Amino acid sequence: MLDLIGAVDQGTTSTRFMVFDHAGAVVARHQLEHEQILPRPGWVEHNPVEIWERTSAVIQTALNSHGLRAADLAAIGVTNQRETTVVWDRRTGRPYHNAIVWQDTRTDRIAAELETRAGELIRHRTGLPPATYFAGGKIRWLLENVDGLRAAAERGDALFGTIDTWLLWNLTGGVRGGVHVTDVTNASRTMLMNLETLDWDDELLALFDIPRAMLPSIRPSSDAEGYGRTTAQGPLAGEVPVAAAVGDQQAAMIGQVCLSAGEAKNTYGTGNFLLLNTGGTPVRSKNGLLTTVCYQFAGQAPVYALEGSIAVTGSAVQWLRDQLGIIQGASQSETLAGEVADNGGVYFVPAFSGLFAPHWRSDARGAIVGLTRYATNAHIARATLEAICYQTRDVADAMFKDSGVALEVLKVDGGVTANNLCMQIQADVLGVPVSRPVVSETTALGAAYAAGLAVGFWGGAEELRRNWRESARWQPEWTEPQRAAGYEGWRKAIGRTLDWAPA
Ligand code: G3P
Repeated sequence: MLDLIGAVDQGTTSTRFMVFDHAGAVVARHQLEHEQILPRPGWVEHNPVEIWERTSAVIQTALNSHGLRAADLAAIGVTNQRETTVVWDRRTGRPYHNAIVWQDTRTDRIAAELETRAGELIRHRTGLPPATYFAGGKIRWLLENVDGLRAAAERGDALFGTIDTWLLWNLTGGVRGGVHVTDVTNASRTMLMNLETLDWDDELLALFDIPRAMLPSIRPSSDAEGYGRTTAQGPLAGEVPVAAAVGDQQAAMIGQVCLSAGEAKNTYGTGNFLLLNTGGTPVRSKNGLLTTVCYQFAGQAPVYALEGSIAVTGSAVQWLRDQLGIIQGASQSETLAGEVADNGGVYFVPAFSGLFAPHWRSDARGAIVGLTRYATNAHIARATLEAICYQTRDVADAMFKDSGVALEVLKVDGGVTANNLCMQIQADVLGVPVSRPVVSETTALGAAYAAGLAVGFWGGAEELRRNWRESARWQPEWTEPQRAAGYEGWRKAIGRTLDWAPA
C-alpha cells in the first residue's frame, strides 16, 4: 500500500508508464509507440487523441500486468516531450488540429519575422532565440490557420497546452473538471514566459497575438497541491495525487540527480539534450545555448539550466530503419557500423529540422558528404552514430565557453546509450569518459522523484544521490590528432548544409 510512485513519460516517439520503489528501482513498466504524421517536408504532427489513448493503455497494462492498483501509488508524476503544441475544446475535449511537434519547421516565417521585430527582447525575456522549435509560434500558426479558433480562444473555450497540460487535463477528469495547468519547465519552452517572473509575459503575448485566456496556469514542477488527482473513471481507476509535471529533459536532470550547480547530463532520445545546472541564476548564453528553467520545487526558488538542444540524433537511426531500410532495428545500427573501423571519409549531418543548438539555422537541411564508391551502408551507419556524438561535441564546446565549467565526465541516459559503439565514439569525440547509470530511463525516474519529493515519499537530494549507481563507463581511446582531424571533417560537413531550405 502506497509504497510506490508512478511516472508517465510521454516522448516524441513513444509513451511509457513506469513504477518505482524507494530505491529508485523499476517495479513495472509498459511502453507503446505512436504514429509520426509527416504531411509535408518539414512538418511533423501527432494525434493528441492517440497520445491520450496510448497513455491510458500503458498505465493500465503496467499496473495490471504486475497486479498493482491505484492504492499502491503514493503519487504520480508526468514528464513529456516539450514544446509540442495542442489546442483543444474544453467543452468536448476534442483537439482543433493535430499536435504540432517540436521538430516541425512550418513556423519558419513566423520565427524570422519575430527575429526581425523583437529578437533581442525575446532572447532577454525568455532565454530562447526565435526559432521554429518553441510553442509560441506554433500557437500563432494554429490561430491563423484553424477556422474559428481565434474566437474560441478569446471566449476561453479553446485551451492551449504542451503535452504535459493535455495529459494532466485528461488524467484529472477532462470535460468533467480537468485541471488546466503546466509547470515552469514546460512554460519556459513556449517563448511566452518571462524567465524571471515565471509568469506569462503580457508584452510577448501582445507581440505573438495570443489570448491569455487560452493559456494554462504555471505551477512549480514538484508540487503536491497544483496538479489535482486522477479519477476513478480514468486509466488508474482510482484517485492518486498528481504531484509533478516536468519537461522530459529537465526530468532527466532530476533522475540523474544533477541537483547542484555545475552538474550536467546528456540525454539521447529522438534528439540529444545536454543540460548544465546553473543554480539560482539564469545564465545568458553567448554561444547558441538556451537558458531554461531546470526545475522548481514548491515553496522554493527556481533552479535554472543552460541547454544545448539537438533536434535529430536517435531519430536519424530511425531514419536509417524506416526511410533508407538499411537496418531492421535500432540495435542493428551498432552491428552494421561496427563492420568498419572508421567512417571512410563519410559524414552525415541529419539537419532534418534545420540545425538547433548551437547553430540555430532553420535554413539548413540534411546532407551526406564525402561519398566515394568505396562507401557502404556500414559507413553510413557509422557516420550516423558519429553525427550523434559530433553534435554533442558542438554543444559541449559551447557550454564550456558559456560557463567555463570543463566537463570531467559526461553523465548519459536515454535509449541510444544502449549502443556501446556510439558511447565509445562519444568518449573518443569528446576526449572525456562517458558514464551511464543503472536506470537509463532517467526521464521517468526524474518525474517520479519530483512527485515523490512533493508528497514526502523521498526526503531529499541526499536520499536520491544514494540511489544513483553507474552501470557502464567508456574511456576515450582516440589520439588527439585523430580527434582533431575527425572534428575538422565534421565542421566542414556542417558548412555544406547551410542556406539550403528555400527562402
Ligand atoms: O524538446 C524536445 C524534447 O523534450 C524531446 O525529447 O526524448 O521525446 O526526444 P524526446
